[in-house]
Amino acid sequence: MKNFMAANWKMNKTIAETREFLRDIIPSVKEVTDVDIVIAPPFTALSAAGDAIGTTNIQLAAQDIFWEEKGAYTGEVAPAMLLDAGCKHVIVGHSERRQYFHEDDTVVNRKAGAAQKAGLGVIFCVGESLAERESGKTFDIIRREVEKGLEGIDAGNLVVAYEPIWAIGTGKTASPEQAQEVHAFIRDILRKRYGETAEDIRILYGGSVTPENVKSLMACQDVNGGLVGGASLKPDSFAKLVCYKKEK
Ligand code: PGA
Repeated sequence: MKNFMAANWKMNKTIAETREFLRDIIPSVKEVTDVDIVIAPPFTALSAAGDAIGTTNIQLAAQDIFWEEKGAYTGEVAPAMLLDAGCKHVIVGHSERRQYFHEDDTVVNRKAGAAQKAGLGVIFCVGESLAERESGKTFDIIRREVEKGLEGIDAGNLVVAYEPIWAIGTGKTASPEQAQEVHAFIRDILRKRYGETAEDIRILYGGSVTPENVKSLMACQDVNGGLVGGASLKPDSFAKLVCYKKEK
């Protein structure tokens, strides 16, 4: 299975900064053929990023999407607009969207459905909070988020990201054992839903991934890539993550 390494820039980088990042990273990852390299800039920089990426081996993703095709939805961005800007994927269900923008499983599911219908790949995020982990609810939360969020969603072009909320931006990474335990659990739910195809669905780990810890996380059987925030903002750091197999 080809690994998948995605940069989630969140609310960072202007158009000029995006161009500069791409100018730096394109040559350093151009030989990479065994990893899907994906960057998710903010909406304002998508089009410029799409132009700069051109026909290179980097793919573009958006950080959010709305499910309607067009109309009076001030501030929202439609699936066709993301395609127009050059996007191949979109992140849905990120914990920051769930937490700060009150997106529940129904909203996440509608977004995933609209993305797939338009031909966009879905990077579908799930994860538990620290309080949920400490009270033994991790598996209940993950099961609910996966089952409800993926209702009616096809396995094709689907990538799942496990991002424990307590590990996001905190410098506190899940141990490889903790990650593998949840990834195997997610794989099992996917098997029940999709049968054999579940073996081909990439399950990414996200939450304080760095060039220092990437190798041990990627060594886990059911960890098939990463969704990276902080460590994806510098081209040399993200290039190291993409080329993690070569890291010592
Ligand atoms: P982080 O963010 O790498 O900064 O922890 C990951 C994410 O939220 O996707």
